[in-house]
Amino acid sequence: MKPDQPLKPHPILPDYYPDLARRPAFVRGLFDRTAGYYDRVNRLFSLGSGSWYRRRALVRAGLRPGMTVLDVAVGTGLVARQALAITGDPQSVVGLDVSAGMLAEVGRLLKIPLIQGLVEQLPVTDAAFDFVSMGYALRHVADLNATFREFHRVLRPGGTLLILEIARPAPPFKRALLEFYLGRLIPLLSRLTTGNRDMQTLMRYYWDTIENCVPPETIIEAIRATGFAQAGCTVDLGLFRAYFGRKAGAAVSLSQISRLSGPASGHPDRSARAGRFAADRSVGARPAETARKAHPAGRSVAPPGPVRDDPMSGRPEPLATNHRREG
Ligand SMILES: C[S@@+](CC[C@H](N)C(=O)[O-])C[C@H]1O[C@@H](n2cnc3c(N)ncnc32)[C@H](O)[C@@H]1O
Repeated sequence: MKPDQPLKPHPILPDYYPDLARRPAFVRGLFDRTAGYYDRVNRLFSLGSGSWYRRRALVRAGLRPGMTVLDVAVGTGLVARQALAITGDPQSVVGLDVSAGMLAEVGRLLKIPLIQGLVEQLPVTDAAFDFVSMGYALRHVADLNATFREFHRVLRPGGTLLILEIARPAPPFKRALLEFYLGRLIPLLSRLTTGNRDMQTLMRYYWDTIENCVPPETIIEAIRATGFAQAGCTVDLGLFRAYFGRKAGAAVSLSQISRLSGPASGHPDRSARAGRFAADRSVGARPAETARKAHPAGRSVAPPGPVRDDPMSGRPEPLATNHRREG
């Protein structure tokens, strides 16, 4: 494993795009066009990976009130909404996505700071967050190593990374069943229930990227190799994977720093609030209302000392049946 070399989550999928250069535009366009249908389809066919699962995964990973969260690939906000319910402060959760369509959708549903940007080049200052989450988007990034390096960079010492994903099951029978369900039935039903062909393509692409994704061991190894002191994964039903990483060092939450150093921003609008975390990074797609107005040089604050418990220490609640840990 060479953490400085690019690591693609899956090979080129020629049914969808002819070469790597055209992949980002394909992914972004597909999510832009399906943003308005995403929640409905997710509710209908989430196979248990809905709100309760996202919330439980956040709690298990150690998210607590008072922490600051960067939810990357925020989509329509399904993870961010649960994070918000836990932290209890609309300014503590920042959503980031490359798709303007998704950002417009989440902006309607959630009043949190939003940033348009790429996961692989986060327009965020170093050590700005206690917690980074990413739900069901790992397969869409261009380079896993660059992505994990960025997550490590923007986390505070002791901070936690949580990545939710689906991995194809190993037993052939389970795999065939899932291929029929996720690869054929769901794409067809998605089109029938929304009347939108792109939704069918999105759901077919969903399965094809799951089927072709690098194995979980490679993902865990890459998290570790890019600098995380701890890395691992919990598995539910042999299918749902919650990868976690912990950055070395003593943890301190932004709210505690803010109490020590005064309010970070007096601006009432969400863009300005996102700006307190923003760094001047050139990203592929800036023009979101939020990214445009974000403050060009966010603050970077040195933690004054260890004042919070280890965020991973509360993680393992009693393991559910069918739930196991790896890593
Ligand atoms: C399947 S949705 C997941 C949304 C949400 N996190 C959830 O749990 O349902 C994937 C999201 O990742 C975003 N995305 C894909 N590639 C990205 C990238 N390289 N950088 C930022 N966002 C990206 C898409 O625009 C889309 O909103």
